[in-house]
Amino acid sequence: MTTITVNAEHCYPVVISNSWTKDLADRCIDRTRVAVLVSANFSPDLATLRNLDSELHVFEVPDGEEAKSIATLTKVWNWLGAAGFTRSDLIVGIGGGAITDLAGFIAASWLRGLDWIAVPTSLAGMVDASVGGKTGINSDYGKNLIGAFHSPVAVLIDTEFLRTLSDRDMAAGMAEVIKCGFIADRAILELASQHSVASLRENTAAISALIQRAITVKANVVSADFKESFAREALNYGHTLGHAIEMHSKYQLRHGEAVAIGLVYAAELAAARNLISQSELELHRTILLAYQLPVRFDRNAWQKLTPLLALDKKARGKTIRFVALSGIGTTIRLEDLTSAELDAAYERISS
Ligand SMILES: NC(=O)c1ccc[n+]([C@@H]2O[C@H](COP(=O)([O-])OP(=O)(O)OC[C@H]3O[C@@H](n4cnc5c(N)ncnc54)[C@H](O)[C@@H]3O)[C@@H](O)[C@H]2O)c1
Ligand SMILES: [Zn+2]
Repeated sequence: MTTITVNAEHCYPVVISNSWTKDLADRCIDRTRVAVLVSANFSPDLATLRNLDSELHVFEVPDGEEAKSIATLTKVWNWLGAAGFTRSDLIVGIGGGAITDLAGFIAASWLRGLDWIAVPTSLAGMVDASVGGKTGINSDYGKNLIGAFHSPVAVLIDTEFLRTLSDRDMAAGMAEVIKCGFIADRAILELASQHSVASLRENTAAISALIQRAITVKANVVSADFKESFAREALNYGHTLGHAIEMHSKYQLRHGEAVAIGLVYAAELAAARNLISQSELELHRTILLAYQLPVRFDRNAWQKLTPLLALDKKARGKTIRFVALSGIGTTIRLEDLTSAELDAAYERISS
């Protein structure tokens, strides 16, 4: 068992073990009511939890982004109301990032804040969504527009969950792991370079080490800078173009797939300014391709992507801000990029 401590609004443990049901049961002691949110697509075996002394309420919500809709939110609030949930009760989200984002937001908003536990079951959920305290749902005007910072009291990770996760979702989660390697931990890159999705499935030690290291990167950043000023921006490496591509694809691309292309683009921008070497740039492509992640995007999309870049959360006023590397493991902010530089880098990643 490994525990990583996140020191944000409050300190909380991220526990990586093969005993999540026992860990969760232990943390439910003294709770009168426990609400477990799961998706209709992926529900784990909750048999152990049924023996708890607490009243267990299992709420099944729609899968994926539908979980993060206002309609689902209202439904869950009503369920909590009908079941009489009070401030000393507990919310648990077991599922991908969509479920943990919803569970966290429910916990932030019901009675102005209940404790909650994240049990992420996708790789993206483990290394990204469940750590950091950002919770939220989608609005008709865009993804994650409604939300709150509300850290869980614990995050329980069991890599056994990954056995049933699709190769595509494994690869998408690896894009975030690889990002953590580039911004802060070269050992992630070394380990990731020796593997593929298939080989990680056979190697519990390697996937556990990658998860642990990626969470440590995120936990360190979040602990230093909980509410998004510069340090936290480093986690957005690859995300400026990534978010634009995700939006342009109407969310047909996984977040991690769009980020993979964004990582290569940000590396191209940095290489053109000699902030990183050609071989450091190529390392982005080699590692991402080993996980069959995309590293190029449609040449004809550029005109539609540029206005979307300006919508990115990191755009302040009229300047578009990119997180770039100034070497592996160190990030800087680029704010003075000319259109010629942006165009030229896109040309080099377009197909
Ligand atoms: N709060 C944050 O800081 C943060 C960070 C990153 C992403 N997110 C959010 O996370 C969501 C993306 O997370 P995701 O990639 O996990 O997507 P997801 O939650 O939609 O899950 C992807 C699919 O995998 C299924 N699944 C999950 N675990 C499984 C398992 N073990 N076996 C089989 N199937 C499984 C899900 O049911 C779903 O169909 C987005 O909504 C994104 O906005 C939040
Ligand atoms: Zn991301």
